Amino acid sequence: MNITVTHKLATRLLEAGDQPVSGQQLAEEFGVSRTAIWKHMKELEEMGYEIESVRKKGYRIQKSPDSLEAFLVQSGLKTKRLGSRIEYLEQCASTQIVAHQLAQEGALDGTVVIADLQTEGRGRLMRKWDSAKGQGIWMSIILRPDVPPHKAPQFTLVAAVAIVRAIQSITGLEASIKWPNDILFGNKKATGILTELQSDADGIQALIIGIGVNVNQEREDFDAAVKEIATSLRLESGQAVNRRKLVQEILRYLEIYTEMYIELGFGPLKELWEGHSATIGKAVRARMTRETLEGIAEGITEDGVLQLRTADGKLHGIYSADIEL
Ligand code: BTN
Repeated sequence: MNITVTHKLATRLLEAGDQPVSGQQLAEEFGVSRTAIWKHMKELEEMGYEIESVRKKGYRIQKSPDSLEAFLVQSGLKTKRLGSRIEYLEQCASTQIVAHQLAQEGALDGTVVIADLQTEGRGRLMRKWDSAKGQGIWMSIILRPDVPPHKAPQFTLVAAVAIVRAIQSITGLEASIKWPNDILFGNKKATGILTELQSDADGIQALIIGIGVNVNQEREDFDAAVKEIATSLRLESGQAVNRRKLVQEILRYLEIYTEMYIELGFGPLKELWEGHSATIGKAVRARMTRETLEGIAEGITEDGVLQLRTADGKLHGIYSADIEL
């Protein structure tokens, strides 16, 4: 059986949505017999699709598998740049490592790497990021913006806004952002963002935006070390969330907001970020490598630096820290 035809058939039916497509029409479009179409349908059922055969009208997909394979993510993807190339891996050490490699080999702006399982998922500050099979979104996006390297941290904030909006659109849940990159429900973390840079004397060569979203974990799926501080969209909404739709929506919002950033600068995005912030106006503790500061988080600068006012009235610019609320 030709797997490419099977994939194309799935794409065709997914794009038709609720509208059944007749076996005859599919046979003509794909240049194969109706029997071959029927065999491809069986193949799709074995892959986890539920296909309804509507009498005299044709086939329609009732349920597709919870898979993030490239052809599935790309069918129904409403972007121009992001996701025009998607590398899907059933397993890898870290999508960041794969994306760095692809970027060095010249992968274009908008290339996306997605894995179903990461064996060495990494978080900020050299931490480990739990990335269990099939339960979350583990992806890295290569961007090649024409901006100076010191602006790179702003992209983490732009990505955070895009993810919060995408989560809201798919699940109706309202998340908040803890500076710089944690997406929270209450004080539990559902998403992390890791932005890494490839640059040289000419400026940024590539930004690798790593996004980890806890989507369908149950409480017992989390490691003991993070059980009390992590959550998933399923736990928050009480129902399973379609990972493919969420990936598509994250890419859609990220494209909208990165374009807005390039056209209008960080100003409007800073406002959006502040609107979702769990940090601004709050008393926080900022743990840095050399010191810990306590004070009120007053805002972020145009460069995405957190401004913290300590009890002695001094305003501190925080570039990198662990924030406790
Ligand atoms: C953090 O909050 O510490 C950032 C977590 C980032 C995790 C994602 S999952 C996809 C990509 N690959 C990785 O190894 N890390 C990022």
